[in-house]
Amino acid sequence: MEKHIVILPGDGIGPEVTNAAKGVLETVAAKFGHNFTFETHEIGGSAIDNQGTPLPEDTVAACRKADGILLGAVGGPKWDDLPGHMRPEKGLLGIRKQLGLFANLRPVKGFDSLLHASPLKPEVVGGSDLLIVRELTGGLYFGEPSERRNNGQDVVDTLAYSRSEIERIVDQSFKSAKVRRNKLTSVDKANVLESSRMWREVVEEKKQEHPDVEVEHMLVDAAAMKLVTNPAYFDVIVTENMFGDILSDEASVLTGSLGMLPSASIRQDGLGLYEPVHGSAPDIAGQDKANPLATILSAAMMLRHSFNMSVEADEIESAVQSVLNDKYHTADLKVKDGTQVSGSELAKKVSEQM
Ligand code: NAI
Ligand code: MG
Repeated sequence: MEKHIVILPGDGIGPEVTNAAKGVLETVAAKFGHNFTFETHEIGGSAIDNQGTPLPEDTVAACRKADGILLGAVGGPKWDDLPGHMRPEKGLLGIRKQLGLFANLRPVKGFDSLLHASPLKPEVVGGSDLLIVRELTGGLYFGEPSERRNNGQDVVDTLAYSRSEIERIVDQSFKSAKVRRNKLTSVDKANVLESSRMWREVVEEKKQEHPDVEVEHMLVDAAAMKLVTNPAYFDVIVTENMFGDILSDEASVLTGSLGMLPSASIRQDGLGLYEPVHGSAPDIAGQDKANPLATILSAAMMLRHSFNMSVEADEIESAVQSVLNDKYHTADLKVKDGTQVSGSELAKKVSEQM
């Protein structure tokens, strides 16, 4: 199959990790007889430096025409003092919003060989394999008004959703649950928030269409606790934007390193932007130390969700598993009796396993 992939390396370690994932995608293409073409565009700090804006128009135009988008990370101390609308993060929020990528999927899976890399006890993290489905383009982060009032003495943010926005994310979460273990936990704060009460209504309605999926509702504070006391309890979690932001960072400690966590931001027609959960890690940028696995696993998600290539995606995931079983790792992972290698070497090991 022919697929056109837009790569947005971004800043810091972004170029290193996207380059590593590109190599793995080329290995997949060669092995399975696909033709992947690549096109690179700027976003974030590098785009500010070279084009005066965090989200250049040609970047958006290229993404609209792509079959899949792979992003590294944006930001860094160099751009920290810029005003809000000019910051690198605006590039990321902007591309998600402009492309209508309303569903953020974050799988969190504990690898056996990394059980001891987590700050949590191995018997707690063991067996955890969950997916957080976070609503990404609505809720508190986008609601208007959001402003200071009364000479700066009062402040307001707005948590707003339309029923259709809730419906489409809930639909996505059922779809995800059905290809996993058929268990869906909808997380809200329905004892306090009206938006959460509507969220619950929609989940209850949609549940009728999916009798095979076991559905429950959980308050966000209880869910936060359960995530670190009994993570293996969860299969798919669906939740609104801010709750999902917080819970997915919390869940990231289960795997032992930010450098292991992939993510996808998708829409109904299959287009998606795939990126590691971590940031641009300016402290290790340019030293070939960055763990490329989160980005490589993000590329696998692109194959599965945007290209319908689940065999190829499985191939990447099992190659990552093999490399970890052989105890190869980058400096961020604490692996007993392991072999520490550079980021590019680790990526090469993954390709060699395929
Ligand atoms: P960060 O995720 O970049 O780094 C946190 C810590 O984890 C650092 O010690 C870093 O070295 C380490 N780390 C992260 N990814 C790693 C990898 N692949 N391999 C090995 N170690 C890794 O978060 P931080 O330091 O809070 O933010 C740095 C910059 O990144 C900031 O400008 C922030 O705004 C930006 N950022 C961008 C994101 C994005 O583009 N999606 C997400 C989060 C932060
Ligand atoms: Mg976050």
